[in-house]
Amino acid sequence: MKIPELCLVALVGVSGSGKSTFARKHFLPTQVLSSDAFRALVADDENDQSASADAFAALHFVAGKRLAAGRLTVVDATNVQPHARQALVALAREHDVLPVAIVLDVPEDECWARTQARPDRDFGRQVISRQQRDLRRSLKHLGREGFRQVHVLHGVNEINTAEIGYEKLF
Ligand code: GTP
Ligand code: MG
Repeated sequence: MKIPELCLVALVGVSGSGKSTFARKHFLPTQVLSSDAFRALVADDENDQSASADAFAALHFVAGKRLAAGRLTVVDATNVQPHARQALVALAREHDVLPVAIVLDVPEDECWARTQARPDRDFGRQVISRQQRDLRRSLKHLGREGFRQVHVLHGVNEINTAEIGYEKLF
């Protein structure tokens, strides 16, 4: 896939779909703002869901600073809910930067199997099922939400063989 040299990338995928793994593989660590890292920053615990509002406020603030400085920024959060994506589209527009969605669409069974194997996650399957439902609903609307590009990677193989190139868009 080709993405603009300067854009705001919203990764979209349920927990365990491999967003953080994908981000590590394709982007610089400093380009990636993850909701987990910001929960840890504001609450000492990346799983503290009660810290989400503050974590996202801090994440959006830093993302805004990066975009204002013309730096590609990747938001590593589930982004399966419309309001989460709307905030990112608005932020990109505010800074005259193109919002791009990259969707990691992985079967729920696979995400759940990976999650069970993780020492750093202890939520139940219903959490992933709910996210999967939100994702399914979202897929139809992504294009109309204001994303300039929507790249949907279907399944583990497409995700693991994806390559990212850059295009100048001016
Ligand atoms: P959350 O942060 O919980 O939303 O998950 P995430 O989407 O960031 O997933 P992450 O990249 O952390 O991957 C979840 C688990 O699956 C980790 O233990 C990864 O090592 C593993 N994983 C990621 N990609 C692959 C893959 O292609 N194959 C296999 N077997 N495991 C993978
Ligand atoms: Mg992650």
